[in-house]
Amino acid sequence: MGKNLSIATISLLLVLASTNAIQVFDVKSYGAKPNADITQALTKAWKAACAVAGSKVVISTGAYKLGLVTLKGPCKGAIEFNLQGTLQAPSDVASFKGKDGWVIFESIDGLTVSGGGVFDGKGQLAWEKNDCNKDKNCNVLPINIRFNYITNSIVKDITSKDSKFFHINLLECKKLQFQHVTITAPADSPNTDGIHIGRSSQITITNANIGTGDDCISIGDGNQDVSANQVTCGPGHGISIGSLGKYKNEQPVSGIRVIGATLSNTDNGVRIKTWPSSPPGVASNIHFEDIVMKNVGNPIIIDQNYCPNNQCSNNSPSKVKISNVSFKKIRGTSSTKEAVKLICSKSVPCQQVVLSDIDLAYKGGGGSTTSSCANVKPAVSGKQNPPACTNKLQ
Ligand SMILES: *[C@@H]1O[C@H](CO)[C@@H](O)[C@H](O)[C@H]1NC(C)=O
Repeated sequence: MGKNLSIATISLLLVLASTNAIQVFDVKSYGAKPNADITQALTKAWKAACAVAGSKVVISTGAYKLGLVTLKGPCKGAIEFNLQGTLQAPSDVASFKGKDGWVIFESIDGLTVSGGGVFDGKGQLAWEKNDCNKDKNCNVLPINIRFNYITNSIVKDITSKDSKFFHINLLECKKLQFQHVTITAPADSPNTDGIHIGRSSQITITNANIGTGDDCISIGDGNQDVSANQVTCGPGHGISIGSLGKYKNEQPVSGIRVIGATLSNTDNGVRIKTWPSSPPGVASNIHFEDIVMKNVGNPIIIDQNYCPNNQCSNNSPSKVKISNVSFKKIRGTSSTKEAVKLICSKSVPCQQVVLSDIDLAYKGGGGSTTSSCANVKPAVSGKQNPPACTNKLQ
């Protein structure tokens, strides 16, 4: 009887141990000290943590200097990166030696990034030298946080601040959730996009608060099933699908939902942008719903002539085909008189575009807002302020 009981107890303990034992790897145990460089300590802690099943790397409160790190999997099991303190990037671009990221998470299944901490990209000096608006082949600048080939993972309660270039970039991720992420950079900081998503699927962004000098969220080619819910955006350039059609062999974008956002003082609202003279491409099943605009330029815009800084040579129409796009319950104030702009391609007109319950007032100079349409016949329902397609263009 006693023997049976002890076997049962031991079995139970083993079960508990195998389900609950998360091993903690505090960077302090690897030599990290506040205000010092912790690149080595973090690299060692990550390696050790990644080699066991179920682990957590902890960086406790305080400020730490950190050089470029690649935190790589695959790991033995689920792994958490718990950042409570502030990581500070080197401010000089030269120390990155042409590398395109600062903190890079790569090839991990079951990653959690959490802890309430800050990734401070120290971008000030890099912004002053950014010449990407003049030179297409400008120097590569590091992105604050890269997620490359990350699956079944969650990023929550962290802040990315003053990145030298994009703040967060996803490449070929699947089932990755962002919850309560904060991203900040000054309105005039160049190319500091909040979250850029590339070639990924089943991505959700919930309760993000993003204010930067470029797009709050941009969704590039090859993305399927991306949802952004309750995002607050501004300052910045708004929430964008694209730009698409700049490169050859771009993959379709499909299944995008932006629901419940608030945009304030952004240059654009919700936007789909494609380059003229593009190779063929597809953008379909894109839905924007329940969005509040506060003093926003171009609150609703499809722009198939997207060509910033006149970088395009000739102007044959875009061949990116846009279809099944809806704008529903979009309301608030526009800083431009033209509040709705649906400029589709002459060679592949937009199809199944829906405008439903639109109520956008002009914030400058008084008077009513207008709406332009080219190569599109939107289906309208509910309130339409401005009336759909007041200007019909070619
Ligand atoms: C339009 O998009 C929605 C959402 O992705 C999808 O469920 C629906 O089937 C699409 N409709 C058509 C006609 O493709």
